Amino acid sequence: MSVRSNTSGLKSNELFERAKQAVAGGVGHDLRLGHPVPLYIERAAGARKWDVEGKEYLDYGMGNAALLLGHSPPEVVSAIREVVGSGFHFGNDHPMQVEWAELICSLVPSAERVRFVNSGSEGTMLALRVARALTGRLKVLRFEGHFSGWHDGVGRGAMLPFDQPVSAGIPKASLDTIVLIPANLDQAEMVLKQDQDIAAIMLEPSGASWGTVPLSIEFNRNLRQLATSYNVPLIYDEVISGFRYAPGGYQEFSGVTPDMSVLGKVVTGGMPGGALVGKSDIMSLFDFTGDAHHDRYERVHHLGTFNANPLAAAAGIATLRQVATGEPQEHADRLAARLRQGMDDILVDEGAAGYVYGDASTFHVYLEGFSGTHAETREQMITDDAAKLKGIPGPVVRAFQKSLLTGGIDLLSYTGGVTSAAHTDGDIEKTLPVFRETIKKLLNDQVIARLA
Ligand SMILES: Cc1ncc(COP(=O)(O)O)c(C=O)c1O
Repeated sequence: MSVRSNTSGLKSNELFERAKQAVAGGVGHDLRLGHPVPLYIERAAGARKWDVEGKEYLDYGMGNAALLLGHSPPEVVSAIREVVGSGFHFGNDHPMQVEWAELICSLVPSAERVRFVNSGSEGTMLALRVARALTGRLKVLRFEGHFSGWHDGVGRGAMLPFDQPVSAGIPKASLDTIVLIPANLDQAEMVLKQDQDIAAIMLEPSGASWGTVPLSIEFNRNLRQLATSYNVPLIYDEVISGFRYAPGGYQEFSGVTPDMSVLGKVVTGGMPGGALVGKSDIMSLFDFTGDAHHDRYERVHHLGTFNANPLAAAAGIATLRQVATGEPQEHADRLAARLRQGMDDILVDEGAAGYVYGDASTFHVYLEGFSGTHAETREQMITDDAAKLKGIPGPVVRAFQKSLLTGGIDLLSYTGGVTSAAHTDGDIEKTLPVFRETIKKLLNDQVIARLA
């Protein structure tokens, strides 16, 4: 019997009607709530996916940026197939975990030892526990706009207004452990000087929300120095930038090595999972020493039914072997650069108030809304203000996404996306006219502003 027998043949709106009853909030992830209904995807391959109506989408979301090699790459599919019949969950360690960890250590500069988890959020949660165990301190220094998962320990800072909790239900005691400042080195130093209770600095090194608010290598270098001189562990959240900016992630790309890093998405080849990695002396906090007091009270306790799941290990190994060559990144980066340039040229051509930016295989489109004050020149528009870059008005974001979706283009989130090894030059050529039509429509409908 097919697992889809009960829902096969249903249209998106019929599925959504049922989902609204059976699925809390109607969707499995807040950002999947599309308008008027979410996408219900039935099948994906390479850079494309198809919804239940059979409509084809060119995908720049790529499984929330987990699929650097594209959807269902043959080597990953066969790795999963090879192991699935021999048991897909042992609840024991297995040989693949060892190779997988060694592969990660061979690629990622800060990875001397690895602990596997089940998601990026679990990784940042565990990183904070390790930092607190290591230092005996409580708080985490974070920067406005940075996203490090959905748990209480990072329960404020990712979403505007930045100082407010991202959700109902987060204890004040958790919120009080977060010291939130703009990404500014002077302010960071002031906090480190004045507050003796900072256990870690944790950030997305490429900038808030996978580079939506970009950070420079220089910033990262200086922050590394600050962390070292104040003896505070530096944690890189490389859940998106990991393996994407270079085989060794943003840290290889920048030459700046943190003390711990959180990996997700690509590390598991797009299967559920993640990893916390770090220098040996820090990761030794996971070791049992045989000393009863230490092992019960001083080491870091960590469980997880699905840690290092065999299917994730198989997919991860197959993916990282490809990633290690640097070829997937080179290809995806080149296409993203073409896309960024092409989109930016269109904005200039059409006189739209917006610009396109990004690094590696990412692209971000900044657009100014029609209503309200807006910049008159490109120079005035270019900003590193997190509130502006993450605060594109909702109606602009929705109209932009909807028009692109109508033209068969899906994004990662808000107004940006990622390319993969499976995208082609032909895909870029297909995307740009749809982007132009979208910009024209948004200008005509007075959704986005026109430059003077
Ligand atoms: C930078 C960053 N950190 C952490 C996470 C959380 O990862 P997960 O969704 O696997 O819990 C994400 C997810 O998108 C992310 O982009």
